[in-house]
Amino acid sequence: MGRRTLRTKLCDILDIEYPILSAGMGPSLVGETTGAPVELVVAVSEAGGLGVLGAAGFTVDELREQIREIKKSTDKPFGVDLLLPSQIVSAGDQEPKGPSEIPLSEVIKSLPKTHYDWIMKIKDEMNLPDIEAKIKTGSTTSRPHASIKVCIEEGVPLFCAGLGNPGFMVKDAHAAGMKVLGISGNTKNARRIAQGGADLVVAQGHEGGGHTGRIGSIALWPQAVDATAPTPLLAAGGIGDGRGLAAALAVGCVGVWVGTRFLATVEGGALPIQKETILQATDEDTRRSYLYTGKTSRAIYNQLHELWDHSGLEPLPFPTQVMFASAMAEMFNRAQEKDYMGPFSGQVSGLIDEIKPAAQVVEDMVEEAVDILTRRLPESVIAK
Ligand SMILES: Cc1cc2nc3c(=O)[nH]c(=O)nc-3n(C[C@H](O)[C@H](O)[C@H](O)COP(=O)(O)O)c2cc1C
Repeated sequence: MGRRTLRTKLCDILDIEYPILSAGMGPSLVGETTGAPVELVVAVSEAGGLGVLGAAGFTVDELREQIREIKKSTDKPFGVDLLLPSQIVSAGDQEPKGPSEIPLSEVIKSLPKTHYDWIMKIKDEMNLPDIEAKIKTGSTTSRPHASIKVCIEEGVPLFCAGLGNPGFMVKDAHAAGMKVLGISGNTKNARRIAQGGADLVVAQGHEGGGHTGRIGSIALWPQAVDATAPTPLLAAGGIGDGRGLAAALAVGCVGVWVGTRFLATVEGGALPIQKETILQATDEDTRRSYLYTGKTSRAIYNQLHELWDHSGLEPLPFPTQVMFASAMAEMFNRAQEKDYMGPFSGQVSGLIDEIKPAAQVVEDMVEEAVDILTRRLPESVIAK
């Protein structure tokens, strides 16, 4: 069969063949690698979609290196995803002073005593190894303005704000020929992002992996389409194949932003053991919790959730809770305690039963969506 055609307005806006973006998935915790590395970005963009680098865990220098790596490997459009916490955006970048790395074991000593003591209690009781991870100072999240400058200087085609409203940088981005996308989990924020001047908005439903809100995808997408109009909306949360893509197009979305399905590809940044966990997971095996970041995020359910639930501790504000969870996760990872490990992952995990190359995911999604739209629906639905 020849190459399929599946085009929407998004393809014209981003100069791509298919309306499929792989989500920018940064590392979930300190010491982890990014879920959306250069290899995934290149594979998705080369396949006709648009790959987005999960750049939240990089330093500003690493960000520039990684963007240059992408440009060396493809001349197709791509994106970069950063987290833009509003308090840092308004206060200004936290310029790195002193060493470029700080031991996590030192950083957690500044957590509230209740939380630090609990980490140490579990470490003793379960005889867990020492915490050896290091925190990079000068990360993109602590230096949003410097990071945006790098994206502009490097001519990144699409800038994606995974957290916060990118409105403050739209003018500069447009002057440099860059498009801007913002992500939201409800209509109020989706409308704000559109009003801030973003070119594209993503509405991510409750079932999605990583940070996620309270509204289910099928309720959220049409409401967000109305709220952001005329700014085009992309659907996210629970899309794993061509059926999800066709459904998103049917409710008026111009394309899809897909995380978990691309995490579990050959090029996806999850560790082999994490990919295996996604393959084995059913639709019921994820959990949304404050445990990992202090904001609600969805991950594969594991025994660390249980420990946290019974700890009696309150979640700390983002990103302080990330330090707490990273310390816990690192001890269990180093002890190879598989039952206490689980990557950020969406409810769609239950649909994923094969680790495929990312290009195959794009191709299969397009093939199935085209089949639904041109054959299956006309054959199975009588509509006049
Ligand atoms: C491992 C992982 C890491 C993520 N990290 C980020 C991130 O750094 N920035 C961001 O905008 N979204 C992040 N997300 C959310 C995705 O961008 C996307 O919205 C979500 O995965 C969509 O739902 P799905 O997993 O059902 O496809 C992450 C998701 C996962 C699974």
